[in-house]
Amino acid sequence: MERMEDDKPKKKVTVYLLYCVSTAVIGSLQFGYNTGVINAPEQKLRRFFQNVSLERYGEPFSPGTNTMVWSFSVAIFSVGGMIGSFSVGAMVNKFGRRKSMLLNNILAIIGGILMGLSTLSRSFEMVIIGRLVIGVFCGLCTGLTPMYVGEISPTAVRGAFGTLHQLGVVVGILVAQIFGLEFLLGSDSLWPLLLALTALPAVLQSIMLPFCPESPRYLLIVLDQEEEARKALVRLRGCEDVSDDIQEMKEEGMKMSMEKKVTILELFRSPKYRQPIIIAIVLQLSQQLSGINAVFYYSTGIFDTAGVTQPIYATIGAGVVNTVFTVVSLFLVERAGRRTLHLIGLAGMAICALVMTISLSLGKTNPSLSYLAIVAVFGFVASFEMGPGPIPWFIVAELFSQGPRPAAMAVSGFSNWTANFLVGLGFPKLEELCGPYVFIIFTVLLIFFFIFTFLRVPETKGRTFDDIAEGFAANAKSNLTPEPEAVVASLPESKEPAPMSPT
Ligand code: GLC
Repeated sequence: MERMEDDKPKKKVTVYLLYCVSTAVIGSLQFGYNTGVINAPEQKLRRFFQNVSLERYGEPFSPGTNTMVWSFSVAIFSVGGMIGSFSVGAMVNKFGRRKSMLLNNILAIIGGILMGLSTLSRSFEMVIIGRLVIGVFCGLCTGLTPMYVGEISPTAVRGAFGTLHQLGVVVGILVAQIFGLEFLLGSDSLWPLLLALTALPAVLQSIMLPFCPESPRYLLIVLDQEEEARKALVRLRGCEDVSDDIQEMKEEGMKMSMEKKVTILELFRSPKYRQPIIIAIVLQLSQQLSGINAVFYYSTGIFDTAGVTQPIYATIGAGVVNTVFTVVSLFLVERAGRRTLHLIGLAGMAICALVMTISLSLGKTNPSLSYLAIVAVFGFVASFEMGPGPIPWFIVAELFSQGPRPAAMAVSGFSNWTANFLVGLGFPKLEELCGPYVFIIFTVLLIFFFIFTFLRVPETKGRTFDDIAEGFAANAKSNLTPEPEAVVASLPESKEPAPMSPT
């Protein structure tokens, strides 16, 4: 087919669209902030637990009990995340996208208040329950934000906007690291405020959301409100003629109405969803089992082992590299494509994990190698943000059409949070067992994920949701082992020339 200028996906980005995307991305910022916030005030929280025990029982907790209460406060966040992410599907089907985000903020406010008042109430239980509630809130954020952003974005910039979710996350982590410094909010008296601060963005988002439209795809395809969907699109696209978008949604809706409602079980049973759901889950696992959070949760200790003299600054440096490279990915994702960037990121991480192993094993005896550890960790984080950081979060919304999307987001989000929980809980034990060789485990996993991505993941750049779903359906029908080339070949021709080849 001759490619015409007009065939190119429209890149119209209006100020209103940016406003709506920014409003949704406050949820990503919240996820990042609450991921990073607990690390800096660790010693203060532990002291508070001891004091409460002393007041209540006349003696402080034993070191073992204190560590248990502490680990519980950290890990319960991911348990909440699993619950929240799993509830995304049911919530958006009942309330829609926008109202779900609005309701979700109630959880942030409740969680913030519980943690903020914990010292006044002399209750460490309030910290734990607060972290659980905030975990549920963040689990919902990791589904709601990418879904809303994916659904309101024009096809041509869907990847770049999807990456904004991850940018929100990394900025949130960085803000938490900085606010957590002792002379800001990380002190003995102010840490409850540091934890409660999450209520503020929740209030801000609640004020901004009523000015955003409900997702036009939800309005048209799920509620069958064409006029409302058209009005929302006219505002988002900034032009009266939105017939192309409406047409595309109608086609997707028509196909959807021919199927019965897609449940989570159905995702695994139906041959046409099985392939994309496996890809979605493995991509989420590749993000977490890459070992990124071993670095984010424990980097100070890692730098220390490698003989770095001021580990805290190296940790903040990692936060900065993290943010810078997410911005780099934002600009590359619509040029290089999701698949290519994911492959480059995984390969880079595998190499850096090897270098990290060398510097960890020799660092203490050879001080000059401590710099190598910093370079390796920075390279590891930079590679992560090129692909494995941002892409899994938004590609799930791309791999599924409107019908199965909520269930798919729930399943894949749940996989992500579960793997996050396992790494957070298991890394210290693994480190104890494997010593400086612990990152070899991640190298092996990264190589596996590289091979899987190479063989199974199709490029989704520049394609409509319907095109992508059709590709998988055609593949399932032909009942062949799906090769990515075969999926791509069965898709209608990409509307935008790919500047780089996918492999
Ligand atoms: C991703 C991960 C999150 C991690 C963060 C680091 O968003 O989901 O677990 O902490 O990246 O930048």
